[in-house]
Amino acid sequence: MADSPPQMKTTILPVDARKIGRIRAVPSPQEDDLLDDLAVDLDEHSEDAEHLRLAAEQLKHSDIPVAFPTETVYGLGADATRSEAVRGIYRAKQRPVDNPLIVHFASLGQLRDLLRPHGPVENGASTNGHALDASHDDPIPAIYHPLISKFWPGPLTIILPNPPHSLLAPEVTAGLPTFGARIPANLLALALIKLADVPLAAPSANASTKPSPTAAEHVAFDLNGRIATILDGGPCDVGVESTVVDGLVDPPLILRPGGVSSEELRSCAGWEGVRVGYKNAAETTGSQPRAPGMKYRHYSPRAPVVLFEAGARAPGLEEMRG
Ligand code: TXA
Ligand code: MG
Repeated sequence: MADSPPQMKTTILPVDARKIGRIRAVPSPQEDDLLDDLAVDLDEHSEDAEHLRLAAEQLKHSDIPVAFPTETVYGLGADATRSEAVRGIYRAKQRPVDNPLIVHFASLGQLRDLLRPHGPVENGASTNGHALDASHDDPIPAIYHPLISKFWPGPLTIILPNPPHSLLAPEVTAGLPTFGARIPANLLALALIKLADVPLAAPSANASTKPSPTAAEHVAFDLNGRIATILDGGPCDVGVESTVVDGLVDPPLILRPGGVSSEELRSCAGWEGVRVGYKNAAETTGSQPRAPGMKYRHYSPRAPVVLFEAGARAPGLEEMRG
C-alpha cells in the first residue's frame, strides 16, 4: 500500500498510572468468579487523569484511533462496536482489512455482556434459540477457564465465537465467525477501557509490516500525522505480543506465539495436548492460515538485522559489515 502524507497533528500525552487516582480490585458480581473486577476513581486535580479522560472521550466520540500502552506492546484502539471507528484503525495503519483485530476488555463482566445474545426477543427466548436467563451458564467456554484464572489479566488472547446479532462491528472480525479477546495487564489500558465503557479493538500500534512498538516514541515514529493522540505510559513490560490460542477446536491450537509460552499453556487442564497451529509466512503462501495475520509480512525493520544463534561463535565487526 502506498504511503500517504501526514493528515493531522499527533500529540503524545504522558500518563503515570500512579498519579491518576485510585485503582482497586473489587470482587466480580458473579460469585466465585475467575477474576476480580477493577474500580477506577480518577483524581479530579491530576493532569495525568485528565489525559486519560481525554483519550477515553476521543475513543467514545471520534473515528480516529488512540494509541495506548498495554503490557505487551502499544495498541491502536477504537470502539469495537462502531464500524467507522474500527475502519479508522485500518486507515491509520494501512492494514489489510482481512486481518482481524483483537478486542480488549477491562473485566469478565464486560466480555460476558458481549457474548450473551442481543437478538430480537420472542417468547422469552432470543431468536438464536438461547434461553434468556443465561445467568448461570458462563458464555465463556469452560476450556478457557483455567487459562483465564492463570494468565488474565495478561498476554493471552483467546478465540471465541462471535454471537448472533453481535455488538462487534463486522470490521473487527474481518468476516470470521470468531473473534480474539483479551484482558490486558496494564493499569492504564484497563482504566482507559473502563472510562470509555466499550470494548476496544486494538492491533499493535505500528504501521502494517513494521515491528510492534514498545514505547510511545516508536508509535510516533510510525504513525506521526496519522493519529491525534498517543497515551505515553512508558515502556511495555513484556515487549512481545500476546499468545493467540484457539480452544474451540480439538486439540486446541496456538495460533500465534507470544508472551505466554507453550509450556505454560500445557500446564493447564485441557491444554496438555495443545498444538502449534501457525506456520511461517513462506509455508502459508497460497493457503488460508487459521490466524489470518500470519500470512502477512511482519516485523520488517528498516535496518540490517544480524541473527546470533545461541552457542555459536559471535561474528566480528568486519564480518558483520561484509
Ligand atoms: O499483544 C497483543 O496482542 C497486541 C496488543 C495491542 O494487545 N495486539 C496485537 O494485535 O498484536 P494484532 O492485530 O497486531 O494481532 C492480532 C492477531 C493476528 O495474528 C490475527 O490474525 C489474530 O490475532 N486474530 C485476531 N482475530 C482472530 C480470529 N478470530 N481468529 C484467528 N486469529 C485471529
Ligand atoms: Mg501486529
